[in-house]
Amino acid sequence: MGCLLFLLLWALLQAWGSAEVPQRLFPLRCLQISSFANSSWTRTDGLAWLGELQTHSWRNGSDTIRSLKPWSQGTFSDREWKTLQQLFRVYRDSFTRDVKEFAKMLRLAYPMEVQVSAGCEVDPGNASNNFFHIAFQGRHILSFQGSSWELAQEAPDVANSVIRVLNQHQGTKETVHWLLNDICPQYVSGLLESGKAELEKQVKPKAWLSHGPSPGPGHLLLVCHVSGFYPKPVWVMWMRGEQEQPGTQQGDVLPNADETWYLQATLEVPAGEAADLSCRVKHSSLEGQDIVLYWGGSRASVGLIVLAILACLLFLLALVIGVTFWFKRLPSYQGIL
Ligand SMILES: *[C@@H]1O[C@H](CO)[C@@H](O)[C@H](O)[C@H]1NC(C)=O
Ligand SMILES: *[C@@H]1O[C@H](CO)[C@@H](O)[C@H](O)[C@H]1NC(C)=O
Ligand SMILES: *[C@@H]1O[C@H](CO)[C@@H](O)[C@H](O)[C@H]1NC(C)=O
Repeated sequence: MGCLLFLLLWALLQAWGSAEVPQRLFPLRCLQISSFANSSWTRTDGLAWLGELQTHSWRNGSDTIRSLKPWSQGTFSDREWKTLQQLFRVYRDSFTRDVKEFAKMLRLAYPMEVQVSAGCEVDPGNASNNFFHIAFQGRHILSFQGSSWELAQEAPDVANSVIRVLNQHQGTKETVHWLLNDICPQYVSGLLESGKAELEKQVKPKAWLSHGPSPGPGHLLLVCHVSGFYPKPVWVMWMRGEQEQPGTQQGDVLPNADETWYLQATLEVPAGEAADLSCRVKHSSLEGQDIVLYWGGSRASVGLIVLAILACLLFLLALVIGVTFWFKRLPSYQGIL
């Protein structure tokens, strides 16, 4: 009986343990930004990321999508890639034309901004999911769901008319469905293969401490900087011994120019209570060897400097006293002689 319980517990722990291992997914996210200043001036630019890494850019002036990585074509052949680019060129032209027509039909006012966010991800079991969202003037208005266009919640009234027209275009819907459900997962699977080494790279963070701007009299703002790490997930906390400091404030994880990340964690404390605080950093690249920086460490070195200066002063004082004594005694000897 006890053995059975033990087995059950063991099985539960195993399940718990495996559930805890975070599974890293690398979604492909394509972003399209279309600006319509007036009926004659428009531009459309595109960007794509796989996970945290930017793989493509497409400037308005260019007929070709620029690959930013040597592996950006995935496992697609040159011919497949060429066909795909041709499809996107046609899409770009018809998108621009359609938006202008909608503007005329619905008497929309310029300037207009349309953003499209689309992509998919593939999990290790080859199951995939996808998304295609459109925003107008910064507001999400519609999405492609299953095999047709659907209104976003809180979409403005104009979106109703747009949806009605879009859902009449059977050919477009079939193409979008094919791109999202067949081409995108195929392409992402290829990218995961061709870009594997770079996607799974591990770059260790560097960390350092500094004073932030004074939050008020008698208080210190301690800043722990963590920079240069990849991938993005990181854990940074101010600690007192083993105790996490709940007052720790984390900033946003910001991009460095070299595809690594930066984060700072701050803690406000009364000046007298900073001594035994430390900043602790956990990151996958560190393989369990957390970085720990002691605020007290820098205080100790300040203390040492003060001590050194004091020692110097004492030495000088001794010297001055000694010399004075010597000079004072000198005349008395002379008096005797
Ligand atoms: C359209 O917008 C562009 C860019 O803002 C501007 O240079 C141009 O003069 C505008 N054209 C018209 C016809 O308003
Ligand atoms: C963007 O590209 C289109 C054609 O590809 C062109 O007609 C348009 O003038 C370009 N817009 C700008 C602002 O350069
Ligand atoms: C997923 O699909 C790829 C090819 O598209 C194949 O090589 C791989 O074996 C599949 N993986 C699983 C778990 O089915």
